Amino acid sequence: MSKIADIAAERRTLKLLPDPASPLPGDGLDRALVDSLIAAAGWAPFHRACVSGREGVCAPEPWRVHALDKPACLALMPHLDSFAKPPAKIANMLAAADALLLVTWLPEEAGEWTASDINMEHIAATGAMIQTLLLAATEQGIGSYWSSGGCFATREVLNWLGAGDDEVLLGAVFLWPDTPNDIEATPGKLRAQRTDPDRWARWVEVSPS
Ligand SMILES: Cc1cc2nc3c(=O)[nH]c(=O)nc-3n(C[C@H](O)[C@H](O)[C@H](O)COP(=O)(O)O)c2cc1C
Repeated sequence: MSKIADIAAERRTLKLLPDPASPLPGDGLDRALVDSLIAAAGWAPFHRACVSGREGVCAPEPWRVHALDKPACLALMPHLDSFAKPPAKIANMLAAADALLLVTWLPEEAGEWTASDINMEHIAATGAMIQTLLLAATEQGIGSYWSSGGCFATREVLNWLGAGDDEVLLGAVFLWPDTPNDIEATPGKLRAQRTDPDRWARWVEVSPS
């Protein structure tokens, strides 16, 4: 198998859920290493230059990343209960994370976004960016979890963390330390349901004229 196929197969969802009262020890990931994963992800393809963006930040990529290191994850925990949407298992995961990357995309219009061709391509590009991030993490031996984000997807929490009003969360990516044996660790629920490519890919036969 090729190297990329190995890394793609090795990537898997892992959710670490320690007791929030006993956060995992350690310093978390070095910011320079996380920056290198983000830079690798920045090579994902994108087809439409976005026209909006945070004030003062003018980049054509349709995605934005808001990175929290381990100290920031831990410092966020006491604030969770003040947010309107119940944080569910977020506190457990913040207690475990070595870093958390909130990846947003920028709809072409302000306010409620519509299912336009441009928005579809912005979401697709941002999804490719997140997958590249996960593969880069896997290559470094770093476990990961792409979450829809729960309370992080709300406007209240996004704004509280400094995201622009025009950003929509596509993924909250948790990066984990090596998994301690005594910590609850959950896999992705669809992992075992994967099928072989012959169930969803086909060769198209075109008769010569
Ligand atoms: C867009 C997207 C959003 C996801 N959101 C969640 C989520 O909110 N909660 C969750 O448990 N898993 C979430 N997942 C992880 C999937 O459940 C997981 O990828 C799937 O079960 C397959 O497992 P694997 O990643 O180990 O192959 C998400 C995955 C994607 C691509």
